[in-house]
Amino acid sequence: QEDVFKKLVSHCKEYGFVFPSSEIYDGLGAVYDYGQYGVELKNNIKKYWWDSMTLLHENVVGLDSAIFMHPTIWKASGHVDAFNDPLIDNKDSKKRYRADVLIEDYLAKIDEKIQKEVDKAAKKFGEAFDEAQFRATNGRVLEHQAKRDEIHTRFAKALNDSNFEDLRQIIIDCEIACPISGTRNWTEVRQFNLMFSTEMGSTADGASKIYLRPETAQGIFVNFLNVQKTGRMKIPFGIAQIGKAFRNEIVARQFIFRMREFEQMEMQFFVRPGEEMEWFKMWKSTRLKWHKAMGLGDEKYRYHDHEKLAHYANAATDIEYEMPFGFKEVEGIHSRTDFDLSQHEKFSGKKIQYFDPELNKSYTPYVIETSIGVDRVFLSVMAGSYCEETLENGETRVVLKLPAALAPIKLAVLPLVKKDGLPEKAEEIVNMLKFDFRCQYDEKDSIGKRYRRQDAIGTPYCITVDHDTLKDNCVTIRFRDTMEQERVSIDKLHDIISEKVSL
Ligand code: GAP
Repeated sequence: QEDVFKKLVSHCKEYGFVFPSSEIYDGLGAVYDYGQYGVELKNNIKKYWWDSMTLLHENVVGLDSAIFMHPTIWKASGHVDAFNDPLIDNKDSKKRYRADVLIEDYLAKIDEKIQKEVDKAAKKFGEAFDEAQFRATNGRVLEHQAKRDEIHTRFAKALNDSNFEDLRQIIIDCEIACPISGTRNWTEVRQFNLMFSTEMGSTADGASKIYLRPETAQGIFVNFLNVQKTGRMKIPFGIAQIGKAFRNEIVARQFIFRMREFEQMEMQFFVRPGEEMEWFKMWKSTRLKWHKAMGLGDEKYRYHDHEKLAHYANAATDIEYEMPFGFKEVEGIHSRTDFDLSQHEKFSGKKIQYFDPELNKSYTPYVIETSIGVDRVFLSVMAGSYCEETLENGETRVVLKLPAALAPIKLAVLPLVKKDGLPEKAEEIVNMLKFDFRCQYDEKDSIGKRYRRQDAIGTPYCITVDHDTLKDNCVTIRFRDTMEQERVSIDKLHDIISEKVSL
């Protein structure tokens, strides 16, 4: 699986999807640029979300609020005081870690050891192997499992109690069994705020410290009354927004999964107090359907309901996708009560309430939030589409089986040879289709090589123009996933392609 992930990362770079930022200067940690195909895929993902939110729900409207916001907003939201990760330094290696991630890694290593034992036994016993029984009785597995349980219990308690001395002690203890850096020389664990700050205005006219927003949601909360009044919105209604967010993540790894500059698609749905649970359920199921409709495989998704809730939430769940490095959060759905609007009312001194004409009374609405990372959806789509196939003739091909609606290029038009009027005919086809679909014209190299290049960027259709085309006005259409080819009339192309490229 790790191998697949490495291949995926290099494929993203080699084929113009994702580049490390500032690469000629050796890169910048956890910051990435999207290349010529990456930007198209990303835009298609955003459009898919935006349309599903704002076109399909007539009571959800859009917003584009600024990245810079009044600094008091982050005091009110709790980010100044509580948006922290526990940080620990190793005094010898001078390396900095997230204490909780070190422990999670250690637990994952134990899981790997257990899995190895299971795999070994499965190989040895073949069909007679009973995995459940083996796990319940094998001495080595039980020993690993006991250690895992012990550390897991201590870890959960330390996190729950915010007991940093215990977190440090677990790291020291773990190191005995499994050296993380070959030393026991750790600093104490301390809180590290994830917000980036900068200054607005020159010092002469009183510069003030402001933050790069760590989430887009607060832009929605502080515009609640603006949108509700000017749009004459009636509860229940939602406000959706797509935009950049910034977090000074301590752990920079797993490619675009955890970035310092990333993009969020968030929607706050304002409801009557007391009705939040039914809306929470509705959005939970609506959002999972949205993911599954991409066609990457229903079994790749699961919910992770939170047991431990933030103080402002009364229900929370994540939608997880099975990445090459395990099931990971792609989207969070939270029932946030009236926490945010009440806090902004308190800190701004402005009344933030809604008059409900049906109930004939005013109240602070409750909020259901759906919050999803564009880059994580991008990664799930790439991981779910990447395939290496061995063909009947023994050759291999790398193909991105992207959902056709998200593919950066919808069709490639390929003249069989660069002469005899075929390029001109191919250009004619491109000119006919380019207003509706993103097309690519390619005449370089053999037709086989050109097919491979289109497979590698996920183009669902290749249209080949040959000498017969000039006589019968027909072309060969090749389907990416099956590699089947069909002779069709040029007049039919638009219909064939339209049918598949919309979600
Ligand atoms: N307003 C709620 C909020 O921001 P979150 O769970 O912190 O909640 C929501 O973030 C989503 O944003 C996550 O599910 C994830 O998809 C994405 N996200 C968060 N941090 C990220 C990072 N460092 N890099 C990429 N995506 C991130």
